[in-house]
Amino acid sequence: MEAFWELYRLGTAALDNNYCMAKQFSDQDPTAVSRKSDHIEMAFQSQVPAQALDNRFYYEPLLSGHPNVKGGPLHFLNCRLGAPIWVSSMTGGTALAGTINHNLARACAEFRLGMGLGSCRQLLFSDEHLEDFDVRETIGPDLPLYANLGVAQIDQLLSTGQLDRMEALVDKLRADGLIIHVNPLQEAMQPEGDHFARSPLSVIEEMVARFSRPIIVKEVGQGFGPESIKALLQLPLAAIEFAAAGGTNFAKLELLRSDAVKQEIFGKLVTVGHTATQMLGWTNQIIETLGAPEIKVRHLIISGGIQDFLDGYYLTEKALLPAVYGQASGFLKHARGDYDMLQQYVQAQIDGYTLAKTFLKVV
Ligand SMILES: Cc1cc2nc3c(=O)[nH]c(=O)nc-3n(C[C@H](O)[C@H](O)[C@H](O)COP(=O)(O)O)c2cc1C
Repeated sequence: MEAFWELYRLGTAALDNNYCMAKQFSDQDPTAVSRKSDHIEMAFQSQVPAQALDNRFYYEPLLSGHPNVKGGPLHFLNCRLGAPIWVSSMTGGTALAGTINHNLARACAEFRLGMGLGSCRQLLFSDEHLEDFDVRETIGPDLPLYANLGVAQIDQLLSTGQLDRMEALVDKLRADGLIIHVNPLQEAMQPEGDHFARSPLSVIEEMVARFSRPIIVKEVGQGFGPESIKALLQLPLAAIEFAAAGGTNFAKLELLRSDAVKQEIFGKLVTVGHTATQMLGWTNQIIETLGAPEIKVRHLIISGGIQDFLDGYYLTEKALLPAVYGQASGFLKHARGDYDMLQQYVQAQIDGYTLAKTFLKVV
């Protein structure tokens, strides 16, 4: 009999508990009436036609609860990142550029992301603009930070015996290494553009042999074709950054800075290039064909025209090498004013990435 009453007591306690919880739930739903009314109002605006569906993913709603941990962590370029996101090389050398770089570095520190600086050419011979680029203090000691130079300047420095100037540049920025940007079409469109005396590949090979720091190679918004990717994959680079076509295109930007005649003649040249999806397809194919021992590159930064975390999640999941996704203009839009705007943007990217990782499987 005592056991019966014990069970009865437990049962009524559970009922009380359920009742309290139910009460609590109803208490916690003060917007129920307005929400139901929104549903009726907005149902017709909420049609997503079948042809608008994103077919890159299987949606698997059954297999996980909502995620508690955001983003990563993951190891990339010998650092622990909080999410697979890279701030692609942008700007420096003006007051606004200083604000942008320091905002970006602050976001990298807060969310544990990696960052490439914009071209640091101005710092090779003078420290006048050092402050605009000098973000190591802000980003902290243990996140990837890379200096950046164009392949044309690098060739000029190598051919005039000034390798040490590039080592000194990386030192004064307390950077982990150097990004080489390869931009023949940009230089050709730029009114004050440089002429390449030899192939970028031979400049990169010389740097790999002589420079003492890790090297990343990138384009500036038109990407690389399969032969260029194959050559890069066989060099001991820290990473290849795609800087693919489909977003900001620096050849086009320079063409806009030139005159109307040049724009008329060369307009179509800026429409060539390769998207990140296309480049990743080639990269994976080359890795499979050549086999692991031939592949010397350690990481990929998949960038250029990456619209958001869905693109980033899809491409990084597909990559056969450890990969992060990079954005330039996406960050730039939010980095020019108060830090709060950028903080919200990055937080949203990480939240979106985390949801994608939890509920989406790449097809
Ligand atoms: C304002 C701005 C300045 C840039 N400056 C550089 C640069 O100095 N060096 C470089 O390698 N790439 C530079 N880029 C190119 C970006 O790193 C990136 O490859 C390109 O913008 C494509 O990415 P997106 O489509 O996400 O903008 C710059 C991009 C922007 C938007």
